[in-house]
Amino acid sequence: MPASLIIGACWGDEGKGKIIDYLSKTADYVVRFHGGNNAGHTVINRFGKFAMHLIPSGVFNKKTIAVVANGVVIDLEVLLDEIQMLKKAGIDVSQKLIISPRCHLIMPYHKVLDNLYEQAKGEKKTGTTGRGIGPVHADKVSYNGILVSDLLDTKLFKEKLRLQLNLKNTIIKALGAKPFSEKEILNAFFLLRKKIKPFIQEPYPLLHEALAKKRHVLFEGAQGTFLDNNWGTYPFVTASTTVSGGITHGAGVPASALSTVLGVTKAYTTRVGEGPFPTELLDKIGEKLRQTGNEFGATTGRPRRCGWFDAELVRFAKEINGLTHLAVTKLDILDTFPNIKICTGYTYYGKPIKYYQTDTPLLGKVKPVYKTMKGWLSSTKGITSFSQLPHPARIYLLELEKITRIPIAYISTGAKTDEIIKR
Ligand code: GDP
Ligand code: IMO
Ligand code: MG
Repeated sequence: MPASLIIGACWGDEGKGKIIDYLSKTADYVVRFHGGNNAGHTVINRFGKFAMHLIPSGVFNKKTIAVVANGVVIDLEVLLDEIQMLKKAGIDVSQKLIISPRCHLIMPYHKVLDNLYEQAKGEKKTGTTGRGIGPVHADKVSYNGILVSDLLDTKLFKEKLRLQLNLKNTIIKALGAKPFSEKEILNAFFLLRKKIKPFIQEPYPLLHEALAKKRHVLFEGAQGTFLDNNWGTYPFVTASTTVSGGITHGAGVPASALSTVLGVTKAYTTRVGEGPFPTELLDKIGEKLRQTGNEFGATTGRPRRCGWFDAELVRFAKEINGLTHLAVTKLDILDTFPNIKICTGYTYYGKPIKYYQTDTPLLGKVKPVYKTMKGWLSSTKGITSFSQLPHPARIYLLELEKITRIPIAYISTGAKTDEIIKR
């Protein structure tokens, strides 16, 4: 069982954390390779309930080494809080967490700038998580970033910080906010450095050795395909590459190393933040999905927008990521719906149109074409075998498989890790 990638097939929050916790039972390594603490991956297992933001969701298994690879942007305070949270729950990561020295640091000014840009955009805002993700990536690609390795070199860190504060404080003051004190940031970061230092190690040779020995390496995608900076609904996207190719620049591993690319999708669709959403339900049904599915963000607590399953999106996710299988989560949330719709494709002024033929404003105007399926009106909660599912639920899943043209390998029937069907 060599390398597999678990990736969001929609707009994030598909239930990746749960699937990764389940699959990591056999994993030697679990690797986060992009995004930052904008991610919130929920895991509910024998240790408790956790919202994982930076440490990979596979950390709960004794023999699994958790790697935060170079593509991840790190807020050190959040990382240390997460280490503490795990310690309290009985998981000691001191011998099993590796942080790449190449990761970029989310600095306090990135978070302030994120919020100032959103305020300046007003109604046109992206609806970011406010964690500094856009600004830290902007600094990375414009050669203004500060890396974890810089933190280990006091002189270099001070020089880089001084230069950045000259630039950032100018912008921050112009936008009417309070500038940062160099001394305060230095003091805070030198304290954080002490705690983080034992975890810093280049994971590249470990991952390549593991792949060569055919060990099981699990890559944990964050966000989702349609939040990708290039292929998502720009500018209502995130700053990183969320599609499968991201493992090369984010973890130093060739995409050809992957034997499985598992796309995770809910049995319906959700999105948090702004941007087009063709199957969004702004009616009672959407509200029922939100309440039944407890659709409130794991990172910001914001209500998620809800709609029917969108096969056009998932087919595109298959093509661009090379999905080999699907995991369908939250089937149980549909238990009380008498009719369930599947969007089989879009039209624009009566003519069929594909996702890739749209730009963001146009995607906001397409009309979904629906196929209506019969609901099952009985509980699927906690079911662990396909044959035990009510007949209409099986028909629904087989229809999803047919329309997306992707085999469904896992069906999740509850939030707990063991509430799952493996086919
Ligand atoms: P992620 O970001 O992709 O890891 O997903 P989130 O954790 O942000 O959101 C998924 C939510 O759905 C979490 O609250 C999970 O506990 C929950 N969840 C995942 N799978 C299932 C399922 O099959 N049934 C139910 N009822 N909840 C689920
Ligand atoms: P997980 O890994 C859902 C969304 C934000 C916003 C846009 C940009 O839990 O699936 P950012 O803070 O990244 O600059 O925000 O991206 N977003 C997510 N939506 N799940 C996530 O992560 C997300 N991470 C970012 O809501 O629309
Ligand atoms: Mg999430």
